[in-house]
Amino acid sequence: MIKAAVMGYGTIGSGVAEVLNINQESIAAKIGEGIELKYVLDVRDFPGDAIQEKVVHDVNVIVRDPEVKIVVETMGGVEPAYTFVKSMLEAGKHVATSNKALVADKGAELIALAKEKNVNFLFEASVGGGIPIIRPLNSSLTADEIEEITGILNGTTNYMMTRMAEEGVEFQDVLKDAQEKGYAEKDPTADVEGYDACRKIAILTSLACGQQVDFQEIHTEGITKISAVDMKYAKKMGRVIKLLALSRKTDGGYQAMVAPFLLSQSHPLYHVNDVFNAIFVRGNVLGDAMFYGSGAGKLPTASAVVADMVDIARHLDKNIWVEWSSKKMALADFKKAEHTFFVRTSSDPKTVSDVFGEVDFTDAGIEGETGFVTSVMTEEAFADKAKELSGILSVIRVGK
Ligand code: HSE
Repeated sequence: MIKAAVMGYGTIGSGVAEVLNINQESIAAKIGEGIELKYVLDVRDFPGDAIQEKVVHDVNVIVRDPEVKIVVETMGGVEPAYTFVKSMLEAGKHVATSNKALVADKGAELIALAKEKNVNFLFEASVGGGIPIIRPLNSSLTADEIEEITGILNGTTNYMMTRMAEEGVEFQDVLKDAQEKGYAEKDPTADVEGYDACRKIAILTSLACGQQVDFQEIHTEGITKISAVDMKYAKKMGRVIKLLALSRKTDGGYQAMVAPFLLSQSHPLYHVNDVFNAIFVRGNVLGDAMFYGSGAGKLPTASAVVADMVDIARHLDKNIWVEWSSKKMALADFKKAEHTFFVRTSSDPKTVSDVFGEVDFTDAGIEGETGFVTSVMTEEAFADKAKELSGILSVIRVGK
């Protein structure tokens, strides 16, 4: 039996214990040996739980136990997860994590440390929950240069956008419903402001370019300003509004951003609804590929963590190469990114045309305002024009 430990017995950590239990025979068959959970590290005790005898409160119990080969980190947040994971790698233990905050911030460093120690640091569950996307980028699409990654990477906001589109409800009402259903946290900031998706696209872009992309440099807008009226216009245009996280290779470097976009029916992400995630990838020789499925939740995410454990168990004496160095990749200037923009304003159509020139007007039957789509322009050109137009009520970029 290969001995393992889980650090953090919350939703995902307990899911990992459950998956190891439910599928123990098939997992053992895939490795040639079973995985046995020896320790669960948490500040709490879990009386009555199947793992109650395995609970430890001191991380050093795991660090010092030479029997433990694989450690799962499902604590979330950068600290103390970072310190604990580093200790495990330094002690020659392999680590699998679901923690996007940790991977986005410290990924390059922990990957380098794992290489140095000839162990593995794997993080499939950090992006897209149960959807395989890290391994495809790292191990499958290796013949390609990745030209574009566009994803719906946050289940909570996708659920909210779907409900708003289908039922015409306002943001605050749908947020309350999402919280009641357990899809949104009590403090929903990380999801609704796009911070969660920002970390995930930083991870994917780092893997695509093999260098460190700092999430702090990615232009990020959330969905908090999207209203029921915006949804009416979207419907009128035959479009939906989705929170996209995207990165594109351009002549000026990688362009990355997170923001709501209006998508037409022909867009590959148009039909991705509810809590599902999807990631569209374009390679320079592959062409297009789509990865779709359960992007969040206990068992889907635990499925990806345990898959990493299986991969590790198959490579106990070998580091699986992950191309992500600490060399910083400067992102292309956001102000030069080109889009078309949908705008709602209280100005009349003549004033709009005087400022923006030729535009496509959209009438969704809303009194006292004008809706229009600009021609293709850079972010900075749009910002300059927008300053000249009074009464702007809403701006949403239009997806290509
Ligand atoms: N809050 C995240 C989401 C969880 O809604 O997608 C998975 O990372």
